[in-house]
Amino acid sequence: MVTLFFLFVCFYTALSSSIPLGYDKIYSFGDSLADTGNFLHSGALTNPVIGKLPYGETFFHHATGRCSNGRLIVDFIAEKYGLPYLPPYLPIVESLKSKGKHGVNFAVAGATALDSKFFYDQGIGQILWTNYSLNTQLGWFKRLKSSVCTTKQECNSYFKRSLFLLGEIGGNDYNYAFFVGGNYNKTKGMVPFVVGTISAAASMLIEEGAKHLVVPGNFPIGCSAAYLTLFATQDKAAYDRNGCLKEHNAFSKYHNFQLKLALEKLRQKYPEARIIYADYYGAAMALFHIPHHLGIKNGALSACCGGGGPYNFNYKARCGHIGSKACKDPSSYANWDGVHLTETAYRHVATGLLNGTFTSQPI
Ligand SMILES: *[C@@H]1O[C@H](CO)[C@@H](O)[C@H](O)[C@H]1NC(C)=O
Ligand SMILES: *[C@@H]1O[C@H](CO)[C@@H](O)[C@H](O)[C@H]1NC(C)=O
Ligand SMILES: *[C@@H]1O[C@H](CO)[C@@H](O)[C@H](O)[C@H]1NC(C)=O
Repeated sequence: MVTLFFLFVCFYTALSSSIPLGYDKIYSFGDSLADTGNFLHSGALTNPVIGKLPYGETFFHHATGRCSNGRLIVDFIAEKYGLPYLPPYLPIVESLKSKGKHGVNFAVAGATALDSKFFYDQGIGQILWTNYSLNTQLGWFKRLKSSVCTTKQECNSYFKRSLFLLGEIGGNDYNYAFFVGGNYNKTKGMVPFVVGTISAAASMLIEEGAKHLVVPGNFPIGCSAAYLTLFATQDKAAYDRNGCLKEHNAFSKYHNFQLKLALEKLRQKYPEARIIYADYYGAAMALFHIPHHLGIKNGALSACCGGGGPYNFNYKARCGHIGSKACKDPSSYANWDGVHLTETAYRHVATGLLNGTFTSQPI
């Protein structure tokens, strides 16, 4: 009887989870944490710093439009499945079928979950880096889809072994709000809108044929050199034992908690899909909590590349601008430019996702 029950449970689990042996395509949506070249190609800024060294210096040895010294989480995930690094959507839009056969990256640095209209309505639209919000990126996906499959059956089969990375997204919505003077209580009101937008995007992708989705939460923003610099205070009680800002980390946790609740609802609505929560917060926290174990010898909170100050973040001399300079050994830092992480840090986060420690179920 016991054996039978055990068998039944195993069989049932295997059926309901059905993790593919590998993925043949990856589609990525999000912001600068995942952008592999869209922002650079969009031409939103003339001569943006991410289009020149030291960006890209470590792995690619030239700038690719990635906001780091090397590979991003999405690159390590592609490596794990033996897939090429994801091409950014904008430069290949005319040859999607041939060049996008292992997936496409729709993420754009600076992108928000909410449409730009939200920010214009609040009177802060001018601070947006890009209008290519999550909805715009989903529109690009639909356009791509219409070039690769037509019937529902055809599309389900085309995306059967595709991995959809939906985020991280939403971090910029809050960054913009905090940078114009928001605090926890003021910004909290945005969370239901941001989470609702992410959740609606997941529903749309599932209805378009996505079976395997990874939805990451936000990083501990209170440990970012930019936040630590902009919100520096003499009040020791504002900092946790790692030297991070408590209020801002609590905000990330609040967003993540709400996101997890929304994903739980989606799992009930779409039992045929695997909706995986990725705990970027937890995975990144180890960088700040036990940096020495991870080879982060130079203090986890200071940026490798910047223009001075207690965290080597100077808004007027950000990485790549005059007055800034990159450290000699980026692999001994967690933070790259004040806002983004180093390749070393991204590898650590990706490892923690791929080995299942920081995902709600295996990818
Ligand atoms: C976004 O759209 C607004 C209004 O359509 C426009 O004025 C603005 O220049 C755009 N911003 C960017 C960064 O493209
Ligand atoms: C936020 O609001 C709560 C309850 O109204 C209050 O106790 C708390 O001090 C406020 N926090 C901040 C950072 O303003
Ligand atoms: C998974 O990866 C994380 C992050 O690199 C690491 O701390 C952890 O020890 C790994 N766990 C296993 C079971 O391999």
